[in-house]
Amino acid sequence: MTLPTLDARILQAKSVVVLTGAGVSAESNVPTFRGADGLWRRHRAEDLATPEAFGRDPRLVWEWYDWRRQLIATRRPNAAHEAIAALETYVPEFLLVTQNVDGLHRRAGSRRMAELHGSLWRVRCLAEETVTENLAVPLPSLPPHCACGAPLRPDVVWFGEALPTDAIRQAWDAAESCDVMLVVGTSALVQPAASLPMVGKAHGAYVVEVNLEATPLTRIADETHYGKAGEILPRLLGTLAQPRTPTPSP
Ligand code: OAD
Repeated sequence: MTLPTLDARILQAKSVVVLTGAGVSAESNVPTFRGADGLWRRHRAEDLATPEAFGRDPRLVWEWYDWRRQLIATRRPNAAHEAIAALETYVPEFLLVTQNVDGLHRRAGSRRMAELHGSLWRVRCLAEETVTENLAVPLPSLPPHCACGAPLRPDVVWFGEALPTDAIRQAWDAAESCDVMLVVGTSALVQPAASLPMVGKAHGAYVVEVNLEATPLTRIADETHYGKAGEILPRLLGTLAQPRTPTPSP
């Protein structure tokens, strides 16, 4: 008996979830967190990505986020982001759950998304809690301030903070009801994102992992494909990785 190929499986699926991590942006030359040259090898998360660090030295924290914004502004979505954006247009119920804050999925055209860890391109007022898009690169002054006078913080999840309630609820519900879950470029070490494939699997999803190396998810995955996401996804997804050609109007 031959197993259906992934694109055939997806075409039969009612609901598909894609979970991504920093590895999906690696081929866009955006650093991952835990690889050989990863951000957490060069910086201490406690100094840059906690509410306490921001309370101690908001300028230092903002310098790091402004540096990342400047770097990412010069990067482009790669073939993996593009394949995921195309896939969305073929599936009736689709959710991209990303741990990435770089905005490259959106720039590639993804729309049905849950950004679990927030976005580098949004800021939040410390006093009013209002969230606004901010694309200025570089930021004209650090730390930036809200019109109300209070400092703004990056709208990202820091260590010790809860995930945005709507995003995690949406991701959990989708994991429980999807037929296929594709897990791309995550070390699967950070909770609760790392549990989503287990939730999917427990509810009957077919779980496919794409990564350079084995992760804690590999043992539960139905298929693991080792290699670069930008090479593997277009191959695995076939025509589903291509933008849909618009149907000519009569
Ligand atoms: P990590 O840096 O922990 O893991 C990146 C994963 O991508 C690793 O498993 C790599 O093997 C894999 N990888 C690297 N290049 C790849 C490529 N070209 N194709 C496929 N896979 C590749 O990043 P995350 O799992 O995203 O959280 O980390 C999760 C969270 O930890 C981040 O969102 C961040 C961090 O602390 C916050 O900042 C809240």
